[in-house]
Amino acid sequence: MCSIIGYTGRLYAAPILVQSLKRMEYRGYDSVGIATINNGKILIRKGIGKVAEVNESLDLGHLPGQIGIGHTRWATHGGVTDKNAHPHPGCTNDIAVVHNGIIENYSELKAELIGLGHKFKSQTDSEVIAHLLELHYSSHRDIRQAMIETCKKLSGTYAFVAVFEDGTVSGARYDEPLIIGIVDSGCFISSDVLGFIEYTDKAIFLDNRDIVVSNRDRLELFDFDGHSVTRPITQVAWELGAAEKGKYTHHTLKEIHEQIQTIIEAGNQNNEKLYSFCDILSNAKNLYITGSGTSYHSALIAKHLFSRFAKIRCETIMSSEFQYMLDAVDDKSVLIAISQSGETADVLQAVKIARQMGSKILSVVNIPTSSVARISDSFLSVNCGPEIGVAATKSFTGQLSVLYSIVDTLCNGCVGISRDKSEIIKAIELVLDDEIKIAEIADTMEDTKDIYILGRSLHYPISLEGALKIKELAYIHAEGIPAGEIKHGPLALIEKNTIVIVINPSDATYNSTISSAYEIKARGATVIGISDKLDEVYDHFIKIAKVSDPLFPLVEVIPLQILAYYLALKKKADPDYPRNLAKSVTVR
Ligand code: F6R
Repeated sequence: MCSIIGYTGRLYAAPILVQSLKRMEYRGYDSVGIATINNGKILIRKGIGKVAEVNESLDLGHLPGQIGIGHTRWATHGGVTDKNAHPHPGCTNDIAVVHNGIIENYSELKAELIGLGHKFKSQTDSEVIAHLLELHYSSHRDIRQAMIETCKKLSGTYAFVAVFEDGTVSGARYDEPLIIGIVDSGCFISSDVLGFIEYTDKAIFLDNRDIVVSNRDRLELFDFDGHSVTRPITQVAWELGAAEKGKYTHHTLKEIHEQIQTIIEAGNQNNEKLYSFCDILSNAKNLYITGSGTSYHSALIAKHLFSRFAKIRCETIMSSEFQYMLDAVDDKSVLIAISQSGETADVLQAVKIARQMGSKILSVVNIPTSSVARISDSFLSVNCGPEIGVAATKSFTGQLSVLYSIVDTLCNGCVGISRDKSEIIKAIELVLDDEIKIAEIADTMEDTKDIYILGRSLHYPISLEGALKIKELAYIHAEGIPAGEIKHGPLALIEKNTIVIVINPSDATYNSTISSAYEIKARGATVIGISDKLDEVYDHFIKIAKVSDPLFPLVEVIPLQILAYYLALKKKADPDYPRNLAKSVTVR
C-alpha cells in the first residue's frame, strides 16, 4: 500500500530516495516525504501529491545528507494532508519514522503516550511508532532495545523504517514486506526490490519479526526477542528494474502491448517445477483456488479449465471471503493462491489459514521472492516483469498462460497451448493493430454512466475483468453479467442507448449469446460486439481472430483493456495511477 525506503551509504541520500520512491509509487501515491540527517540533525520535507509534483514544489532531492528515509502514502488512518504525510518525527527531532501497514492498537497506545506527555501532530496510526521509539530510546539511547520494546508494543501489520539522529537507520517487519539491498558501506531497506535495483542486486528478504539496524559500519539482524538471526543473501534479477515507459505514454499501455511476449514467457515453465506442482494438485481431496480482484478472475477461468479438460473439480473462493468458508479445508486439501504481487493481505491471510488447517499451498505469482511464493509448497512464476500500471493487464494474461500450461500438463496436452502459442500471438497482434479503432469506439462512449458486459462460460470471468478495468481506469460504473442471466433481472436496466458489450466468440456459447444480444438490442441498447464473427446486431464491432475455443479469453480481454485505457484518457484520468487505489493491497 505505502512504500517505505531507507538508505545509508556514501552517496547523497535525497536524490536516491526520490528516485526509489518514483519506482515504488505504484504502491500508494497520495503524499510523499523524505527525511535525511545532516550534521546530526533530522531534516524532513513532505507534502501531498505524486512524487514528481512534491519533489518539484519542495525540492526534496536537494535535502543534504547521506542517510535518510522516504515514503509514499496510501491513506488508511487520517485524511490526505501534509501533516499526515510521512515521515513522522516524535516530539523531539531525534527520530523520524516511515511506516507501511496498520497499527491496530494505535488508539490505546496514543492515549498512553499522550498521558506520558507526548504531543501528536498527525491523525495517523503510524505516528505512535515514532513516539514509542522516542520513549524507549530516550531512556538508555540503545537503538536495538528501543526497536525491540517498540515492536513488542505494536499489534497489527507493519513494516517500518526509522532514522535516528546518530546516523542509524533501522527497520522492522511484521506481515508487510521489507527487503534489504546491500551496497558498499551501507544498505537500502525497502518495501520492494524496485527501491534499490539500480544500485544492487544483492538482497536480504526479512522474515516476520525481524529487525535490522544499520549504519555505514554494521548491519545487524535480530528478532523481536533480541536473538541474532541470519538470512540468506539472494541475488535478484536485474530485469526487475526494467520499469521504464519506453515509447509509450503510460505504463498501462506499454504493459497491454507487452502481452505478446509476456504470454509466451509465462507459458515457458520449467518442466520439473510444473510436474511437481501438478503432482500436489492432482493428489488433493479438496481443491480450492483463491485470489483477489483480477487474480480472482483468473481463478474463475482456472475452475472452468480444470473441470472441462482435467476433470478436476474445485471451488473458487475470493481471498477476502476465505476465512468464512472453512468447513472442508483440511490436511487433505490443496489451496492454489493466485497473486501478481504475492503480497496481497487478503491472499496471505487465506494462505495462512489454509496452512494452519494442514492444507498444502500452491501458488501462481509474478514476484517469485514474494511472501506468498515463500510460504508455498510449490509455486509457478508468471515471469511477466514488473507491472507498474496499478490495473493488472499483462499479469492477468500471464496468470492465464500459466494456468493453461497447468491444465495442459494435467490433460496430456489437450488444450495445446504448450505446443504452439503462435496462433494466440497472431490473434493478439491483430487486436493491438486495431487500437485506434477501439479508441474511436471509446470516443462514442464519453458520456456513458453505465456499461454492461455479457459473456457465458469462460467469457463470463472476462466480462467481470473487463468491467473491473473500466471501473478502475475510467471511473465508469461497469458490470459483468452472465449473458444467460440478463433475462432474470438485469434486462430491466436496459433502455435506449445503454451500452452493452457482448463477448461472443464462435464457440459453444455463440448461439445463446447472440440471442441475448438481440433481446438487448430490441430494448434500445447500443451493442458492442467482440467476436470473430460479424453480425448485424452490433452497432460497433471489434473483430478478434478465431483461435481454439478454450484460448479465446486470452485474446478477448485485450480489446477490453484497450477500451478501458482510452475511456480513462477521455475522462482525463491517469490510467497508471487510478484514484484511491494502490497496486499492492497489503492491508485487510
Ligand atoms: C485490478 C487489480 C486488483 C488486483 C488485486 C490483487 O486491476 O489490479 O484487483 O488484481 O488487488 O492483487 P494481486 O494479484 O497482487 O494479489
